[in-house]
Amino acid sequence: MGMDDQDDQVRLYYSRKTLDILHKYGPGPRVHFHLGLFADGSHPPTAVPQAVLRQRITDAQEAIVEHAARSWGAYEKPPRRLLDIGCGLGGGSLYWAQQHGAQVTGLTIAPEHVPIVREFARQAGVSRQVTPILGDVHDLREHHAYDAAYANESSGYTDRTRLFEVVAEALEPGGWFGIQEHFLRELQWRGFIDRYYRTRLGTRTEYLIAAEAAGFELARDEDVTDVVAEFWTQSTAWNTAELERLRAGGATAGGWSPERLRESTRTQRRLLGLWRDHAVETRLLLFRLGGGR
Ligand SMILES: C[S@@+](CC[C@H](N)C(=O)[O-])C[C@H]1O[C@@H](n2cnc3c(N)ncnc32)[C@H](O)[C@@H]1O
Repeated sequence: MGMDDQDDQVRLYYSRKTLDILHKYGPGPRVHFHLGLFADGSHPPTAVPQAVLRQRITDAQEAIVEHAARSWGAYEKPPRRLLDIGCGLGGGSLYWAQQHGAQVTGLTIAPEHVPIVREFARQAGVSRQVTPILGDVHDLREHHAYDAAYANESSGYTDRTRLFEVVAEALEPGGWFGIQEHFLRELQWRGFIDRYYRTRLGTRTEYLIAAEAAGFELARDEDVTDVVAEFWTQSTAWNTAELERLRAGGATAGGWSPERLRESTRTQRRLLGLWRDHAVETRLLLFRLGGGR
């Protein structure tokens, strides 16, 4: 499949998923669609009301964004202009604007996301700081426009050689590129995950080679696999609670039919096993571009 076909598939996938994401990870204004961090590998009990599960899931998503920003030095030296690549519904974009005062450009390939991010930015009082734009990162053509770039579980959809090239061009000398992503360690799982999430996950080595070729240095590399694995458990518990809600006569929300919920649970149970075995790893990578001040 060519890159354009792949991008079309990803666009369609996210257009269909928008309401599902809002229902499970909302109500916002900071809505994230990525794994979250459970400190010290905690395993909170899952036999709790659905609202508690949802709060816990969204707290964990916020916690990993905050953890990454802190360990990347954002509090010491906040980014002034940040590009949020694959911003989704804008949770990360709003975080960088609200918490660090950044001017954020949120780039997404799904047209539906743009008005939603705009509305959430308004609700959060950061309309002037957050600009969502529709576009494909592979076509990015900016020059020295940002001092930081951020890609939370979006780099896994891209051609990495191209990604690092365009980001290197878009950043100012000395700028940084922070990534949260999943990396394949056992390649036989590639098909299973890529089919389910429409991704094209890579290996850590592949990223490092592409980054270096574009002039980046690896500044931090943190393996968070063990502290995010619990996310799958909490997410499947939410699915079970949603199934129970539907069985009790509740209305279907988004595309969360009983069949979809069961499929999601089956897949995420397998994913939990892969994360526990480190067949796939989630990492926080920080790259820095040469030529800094
Ligand atoms: C798993 S979601 C993560 C969203 C957001 N970063 C977050 O953490 O909540 C992946 C996002 O990447 C975006 N995306 C995928 N391929 C892209 C591309 N080629 N260019 C721009 N955005 C893309 C999708 O639209 C989607 O919003």
